[in-house]
Amino acid sequence: MAELVDVVVIGAGAAGMMCAAAAGQRGRQVVLVDHAGKLAEKIRISGGGRCNFTNVNTTPANFLSENPHFARSALSRYTAQDFVALVKKYRIAHHEKHKGQLFCDDSAEQIIAMLKAECDAGQVQWHMPVKVEEVTQEADHFIVHTSTGPIPTQAVVIATGGLSIPKIGATDFGYRIARQFGLAIVEPRPALVPLTFDEAQWQPFVPLAGISLEVDVETGSLKGKKPTGARFREDLLFTHRGLSGPAILQISSFWQPGTPITINLLPEMDVAATLIEGKGTIKKQLDNVLSQWLPSRLVDGLLGAHGFQPDARLADMPDAQLRRLGQAINAWTVTPNGSEGYRKAEVTRGGVDTKELSQQTMMANKVPGLYFIGESVDVTGWLGGYNFQWAWSSGMAAGLAI
Ligand code: FDA
Repeated sequence: MAELVDVVVIGAGAAGMMCAAAAGQRGRQVVLVDHAGKLAEKIRISGGGRCNFTNVNTTPANFLSENPHFARSALSRYTAQDFVALVKKYRIAHHEKHKGQLFCDDSAEQIIAMLKAECDAGQVQWHMPVKVEEVTQEADHFIVHTSTGPIPTQAVVIATGGLSIPKIGATDFGYRIARQFGLAIVEPRPALVPLTFDEAQWQPFVPLAGISLEVDVETGSLKGKKPTGARFREDLLFTHRGLSGPAILQISSFWQPGTPITINLLPEMDVAATLIEGKGTIKKQLDNVLSQWLPSRLVDGLLGAHGFQPDARLADMPDAQLRRLGQAINAWTVTPNGSEGYRKAEVTRGGVDTKELSQQTMMANKVPGLYFIGESVDVTGWLGGYNFQWAWSSGMAAGLAI
């Protein structure tokens, strides 16, 4: 049997590399195991290849979890600014794109190379590509059974992420280990994902594929002390099967199957009031009036889908009809029949229940020495660099504790 090491980190993605580097640099003997042939594919493809590596405005309010307070400790001890300092130390040129989102100027590969260098500085031993068969617990240590032999270890960190994008190596390994050790799981489901509609219901909107515009989108209830819903102002994209774009990805994380989403296609204008007021002075026909404010292809599609004659003259239309049209534009309410699933989801919502873990160290309360970090945990960020920040913060929390 191989010699006992201090820690085996399973999963060499964002959280796993951060954790391994931190523990290694503290003098811990770290083995990092991953089954993938290529290192950190998710970082590589993130942010369109430029990795939106953090968000400078990160707060715990940017995350979904059964326990919204859980992430607070790790996020406050290793902040977006801490990660930016590391990026600057490696002279990685970067820029802010939108609402605090930081991207590499050149390539996500630079973030991977930086994390690899940090691991090397901590003398982390790489076992990759190596399959993990099982993890067993002995009297005072664990054994990680791999395709290249067993590794006895004092501590095990599960950093195998969520279920999104199975074709680049996502597995349910983290959830299986949690169940094996009797830890609760919050039901995982795809998040930050395009939404789909019933084929027949969507038929009138299929010709709109490719149209993109800034909208307000909301779902659920925004009222009360614990609102279940959310509202975002972002770009929406029509697709052949439904809706996508940042607005929809954001709202998908909050959307409950069977419930509607409401989209305001002209958030800066009360359409019904403007049309009713303009009846006396605007001589144009309906499609020409609306095309001043919305893409004309969208106007044609909307008028058709809602049964309005495009060539109707505004002046001739009853107020009640204009109110109905205003509603269709300012509060278009549609009920998705599902999502594009893990194949297209950027993240997995749910995961290891945070009530099982210490928020300071990420260690399982019932299983000393077993840690869960990153996306395997029931902490899911909004779109915009928050998920990587959680990977860095939770990875660092465990790396400093082991
Ligand atoms: P991650 O998935 O990074 O790593 C898990 C590792 O575990 C992988 O290397 C995998 O091979 C390994 N593994 C899995 N099962 C295993 C097993 N059984 N045995 C051994 N190894 C195993 N976020 C963000 O903040 N900004 C962004 O720009 C983007 N962009 C983006 C684009 C796309 C297309 C996707 C799919 C996702 C994003 N994200 C993102 C989300 C972000 O990539 C994600 O939240 C983090 O990578 C999660 O980090 P983890 O380390 O937890 O898992």
